[in-house]
Amino acid sequence: MNTLSLSNEILSQSLRRRTFAIISHPDAGKTTLTEKLLLYSGMIRTAGMVTARKGKNFTSSDWMALEQERGISITASAMQFIYQDRVINVLDTPGHQDFSEDTYRTLTAADSAIMVLDAAKGVEAQTRKLFAVCRLRNTPVLTFINKLDLPARDPLELMEEVEEVLGIQAAPICWPIGYGRDFCGIVDISAATCHIFSREVGKSGRTAPKIVPLQGLSSSDGVEEVTIKQLHEELELLRGAGNVYSHEKFLKGLVTPVFFGSAITNIGVEFLFDEFVNIAPPPAKRAVLDAKGEEFYIEPSSELFAGFVFKIQANMNPKHRDSMAFIRICSGRFERDLVVMHQRLEKQIRLSRSHSMFGGERETVEKGYPGDIVGVVNPGIFSIGDTISSEGNFKFPPMPQFSPEVTARVRPKNMTKLKAFSKGMSQLSSEGAFQMLQPLGAGEPLVAAVGKLQFEVLQHRLKSEYSVETNLDLLPYIQGSWLEGDANTFKKPLNALLAHDYLKRVVVLFSSSWEKEYAERENPNHRLLEFVR
Ligand code: G4P
Repeated sequence: MNTLSLSNEILSQSLRRRTFAIISHPDAGKTTLTEKLLLYSGMIRTAGMVTARKGKNFTSSDWMALEQERGISITASAMQFIYQDRVINVLDTPGHQDFSEDTYRTLTAADSAIMVLDAAKGVEAQTRKLFAVCRLRNTPVLTFINKLDLPARDPLELMEEVEEVLGIQAAPICWPIGYGRDFCGIVDISAATCHIFSREVGKSGRTAPKIVPLQGLSSSDGVEEVTIKQLHEELELLRGAGNVYSHEKFLKGLVTPVFFGSAITNIGVEFLFDEFVNIAPPPAKRAVLDAKGEEFYIEPSSELFAGFVFKIQANMNPKHRDSMAFIRICSGRFERDLVVMHQRLEKQIRLSRSHSMFGGERETVEKGYPGDIVGVVNPGIFSIGDTISSEGNFKFPPMPQFSPEVTARVRPKNMTKLKAFSKGMSQLSSEGAFQMLQPLGAGEPLVAAVGKLQFEVLQHRLKSEYSVETNLDLLPYIQGSWLEGDANTFKKPLNALLAHDYLKRVVVLFSSSWEKEYAERENPNHRLLEFVR
């Protein structure tokens, strides 16, 4: 193939890609929405089986026994499918709050995000944290306010909360017609049309709304007079005080387009997806650092292949007892057996066993383009954040790390297992399953994580994959921050502990938020950071 047609191929394929993550607080409806996206794209024929997914079908893989016991999603996998001729890559982000560190990292591989809010609860804690990570890269975020079929808060109030709590302008693209028991559809604001759904809508199949002009809406369309009156009043208010959607501001992460609906009854769901594929951006240029640390950009359409590892997972499936590294392609074309430069190891490697994932099932990938996620077998050579490229000497900026909220000491129950224990700890920490910290001066290393359940997974995996049973003692440190400034002049609160992370950066571990505030007051020339890059 000549150069011109190769670059055209990469450009046109890249423009077709929409790579995104769904961010939400547990229970807001992320799984239900993802499932509906699969339904509307023809990937599955029936939905409404969130329970079935949580039980077995959807992310079936035996190592996830713990997931099945808990009924939660522990691992993030990427799914690819076609919707409206766009290639959609959904980065499935672990929903449980204890797994947010993995979720955080996954967001670095996304070009946009859909933030799902529960209409009765508004912006919840986990959503706030995940949104803050999107902010790090100005990732465009769409907002879907879900569960309008249940008693909900006033939509105007919900939009105000988004603006105040998250500090982003909220611009409605559609508006709910009634809420709670009266919820029966949405208004497409720019087209001034109503999408009316019948109340008998089945939960499992696709449902098409009846579309009527807003001005002609009447009770003969199945909407109560009182609901129509209220709708017109709300829209009048919006015309006076609401933000108008600006695509340019959305792409810069300054405004979030807001959608309303009910994932379980399909109301507003197809409208969201159709708008999403239109407005969500394809892969954009990404900043990289050259050997001298100078920043430059790589365009997705470049023929130079480049990507980075954002996730590592060992023993995903007992049928394939190995570790997989998940690579986000940022530029160029990926092909099976591609020989690439591993920038950290400064050596060439062949990417021979490449897979895409649907739940726990693997499919061999022959080709991939910017925005795609490929999983390659990892013979212990990949770490999170690694850059691979067809040529050149550059790196993607390091992955951010997130401040730990739980700490512990882990030891093997039987000291004859020390070797297997050390191997497991080192492999699992390189996967980013937890952070290993070494107290300054002397002392045993300790493990740190964003949530306790990460420790349970650690113990479970040490036992099932390395045959090592362990004792784990929780430590009193419940907040960690990276220290910016000279550690020798830092006035450490009595009960705080200073430790090095794997890059020898100093982490201060506090046993209370009060202690951290005290340290901030006592050390005005130092900074305590929640994220580090
Ligand atoms: P998550 O992935 O964000 O944690 O949420 P998930 O989709 O699992 O949804 C959490 C619960 O909320 C589920 O109920 C789901 O059926 C319900 N749900 C999701 N979207 C809607 C909606 O638009 N309206 C209503 N009324 N409920 C919704 P569950 O009882 O936990 O599970 P299940 O027994 O229904 O599967």
